[in-house]
Amino acid sequence: MATKHTTATLTIDGKSLDLPVLHPTIGPDVVDIRKLYAEGDVFTFDPGFTSTAACESAITYIDGDKGDLLYRGYPIEQLAEKSHYLEVCYLLMNGELPSRLQMEDFERRITRHTMLHEQIHYFFRGFRRDSHPMATMVGVVGAMSAFYHDSLDINDPSQREIAAMRMIAKLPTIAAMAYKYSLGQPFVYPRNDLDYAANFLHMCFSVPAEPYHVDPILARAMDLIFTLHADHEQNASTSTVRLAGSSGANPFACIAAGIACLWGPAHGGANQACLEMLREIGTVDRIPEYIARAKDKTDPFRLMGFGHRVYKNFDPRAKVLKKAADDVLGLLGIGDNETLKVAKELERIALEDPYFVDKKLYPNVDFYSGIILEAMGFPTAMFTPIFALSRTVGWISQWREMLNDKNQKIGRPRQLYIGAPMRDYVPVEAR
Ligand code: ACO
Repeated sequence: MATKHTTATLTIDGKSLDLPVLHPTIGPDVVDIRKLYAEGDVFTFDPGFTSTAACESAITYIDGDKGDLLYRGYPIEQLAEKSHYLEVCYLLMNGELPSRLQMEDFERRITRHTMLHEQIHYFFRGFRRDSHPMATMVGVVGAMSAFYHDSLDINDPSQREIAAMRMIAKLPTIAAMAYKYSLGQPFVYPRNDLDYAANFLHMCFSVPAEPYHVDPILARAMDLIFTLHADHEQNASTSTVRLAGSSGANPFACIAAGIACLWGPAHGGANQACLEMLREIGTVDRIPEYIARAKDKTDPFRLMGFGHRVYKNFDPRAKVLKKAADDVLGLLGIGDNETLKVAKELERIALEDPYFVDKKLYPNVDFYSGIILEAMGFPTAMFTPIFALSRTVGWISQWREMLNDKNQKIGRPRQLYIGAPMRDYVPVEAR
């Protein structure tokens, strides 16, 4: 709980209001305006929540100016180097790193939930083969509430726990099935002898006709991508999950809402949009044309994979992935392809160009994750589903934290009304 020491004074039409100022463990102080409407008869106006803290949270911290990202206090660079995704899941959900025994128990529980109810296979078959896998995921994850009736009661902590385990365990299976379905290939069941990342690669890339060997370097890169995307504070999709959950909606419905929000190109959909943009640019000599378009205020085009609402410095996740991209491309011997050349040159120009430097538009995580995922053999349509399955643990941790928060209320923003004042209805013959 943030501590309260000082006050801020707001004067409106000569009337002064003292507002408590809350101090977080790190980060900017927060003016507590909860009583503003009751005592001052005014609302605040903050479209896009650029200056508004919507909740207390002890999970993730970002310092956008410095380029710091902490999960439960641990720097992302250390977790990326020394930890692995399931340990990070435990950390995000429980607040502390697990002991060896706790880790083994957690892994065992996740592993035992990787299969889906067999009836869900028929649900998949209702989709067109050319559906975007995000569309399939929104539908299937939402539909989980029709299959797992014993984990819908949000007031029962054990049901909340089992719903959390089910989603962390089953999201890779759902994403892989959406992929297999789009290819017209048979679904591949999970293999519980593989780790989380290797199992996902197995479900995506193996076929019943021949053995499939998971390359440990690719599995490590996959695990890294999962780890770096696991949580990111109160971003759009996380806020969507919290808002959906604030009404008491069931956890599967809340996560489906998060997946829907993540899909947008300004958020998780940027990884797909970025790679499509690199392909559209095609060759290095066409980059100046696209840079000019990005700067042109009359052109809606933006350089995808650049800029971030919070980071006004290098995205720390992008730094880790830049190195991983070099490793993966080196391993696969494709460091020289044209898309990658365009990416490297675009990055170099954008980091030097005054427009991007002045606006602090650095490459973000989506810029590098797309390059790695493409090298691994994923089609662009799978990039955002992979982001979604990685972020599921973050959404769930934030949802659980919200349910335990005694200040939690249904989310209900106010508005600055600019419509017509009250007027009388006019019968059609008089209009
Ligand atoms: N290319 C060109 N110009 C840009 C870009 C970009 N990618 N991003 C921002 N700008 C410009 C804006 O035009 C604006 O210029 P102005 O001040 O002259 O009007 C200025 O930089 C600030 O941009 P805003 O849109 O106000 O910044 P905001 O914080 O609202 O947006 C966002 C952040 C949505 C990420 C934006 O940078 C963007 O659209 N980037 C491309 C999409 C992308 O890569 N999204 C992934 C985000 S990371 C994630 O979700 C995992």
